[in-house]
Amino acid sequence: MTPNSPRALWRLAGPLLALGCLAGGPAMAQSGYPNHAISLVVPFAAGGPTDVVARSLGAAMSQTLGQSIVVENRPGAGGTLAATHVARAAPDGYTFLIHHNGMATAPALYRKLPFNPLTDFAYVGQVADVPMTLLGRKDLPPADMAEFIQYARANGSKINLANAGLGAVSQLCGMLLQEALGTQFTAIPYAGTAPALTALLGGQVDVLCDQTTQTLPHIRAQRVKLYGVTTLDRIKTLPDSPTMQESGLKGFEVKVWHGVYAPKGTPPQAIAKFNEALRTALKDPAFTQKMAELGAEIVPEAKQTPASLQSWLQSEVDKWGPIIRKAGVYAD
Ligand code: MLT
Repeated sequence: MTPNSPRALWRLAGPLLALGCLAGGPAMAQSGYPNHAISLVVPFAAGGPTDVVARSLGAAMSQTLGQSIVVENRPGAGGTLAATHVARAAPDGYTFLIHHNGMATAPALYRKLPFNPLTDFAYVGQVADVPMTLLGRKDLPPADMAEFIQYARANGSKINLANAGLGAVSQLCGMLLQEALGTQFTAIPYAGTAPALTALLGGQVDVLCDQTTQTLPHIRAQRVKLYGVTTLDRIKTLPDSPTMQESGLKGFEVKVWHGVYAPKGTPPQAIAKFNEALRTALKDPAFTQKMAELGAEIVPEAKQTPASLQSWLQSEVDKWGPIIRKAGVYAD
């Protein structure tokens, strides 16, 4: 048998084909990924800020992928239930997670975190950055941030602060606010900031820090009191609203970023295809206009890659870990 004879070629091709199937995974071995609907897991309640971004993104991406993206809300434990679910899901290219800063804060907040954000996932890319707003119920006495600071220091734990649990950005923002003011509120956790905002509108809680992707219409209709925005500079969608920093909390900044993840071991071809659909969606005029109206800023192209999300996540874990440990906030 010569090295180029058909039998020799088959001998070589056999193991290579087998390797190809393994690398691509069972689903990828079938032609035409994706060939059925894809699940995009959202770690918070339906109707809230993460859900709004996920549903708009999913609709735009499904046009490129030719399959539906079905949003699956799995709220609980500040987003960690959903991340655990996706970390353990079959790595077949049909389950993805959209999550925010909570992926980076969870390791410091949870002593027994069932997943490792830095080793248990495949990374797709970043999506958009969103500012937060500090809101009070409509009839809360302080008229502005200066008055709120005095009121907060005088009333401490009598003030009910709604959040979406340990790991939510509403919790992170509230934690930083309490640190900055040297006071402690009473935290009331919800499954997401959609129900938390409903509680604020109904006057059942006093204060909520939440993203513009949900809060803008309520601020504009004056259904809540706006005390400040959490970015260092004023934002286009609320140009008249001072930042927290302007109101005396120097350096106060919480910017929400979103990333898309898959279970570790997801075939590289599926990640590449999903990433291509993500990058196409981030240029889609309907999607970008909707995000801009909600105050969300699409990340630059360099951040829309798997490698960039992975290194960004590492830098955020490194950034928030010491801050959270210093605040002494954690769950056993
Ligand atoms: C949500 O979608 O409900 C929020 O992103 C929760 C949060 O992190 O505050």
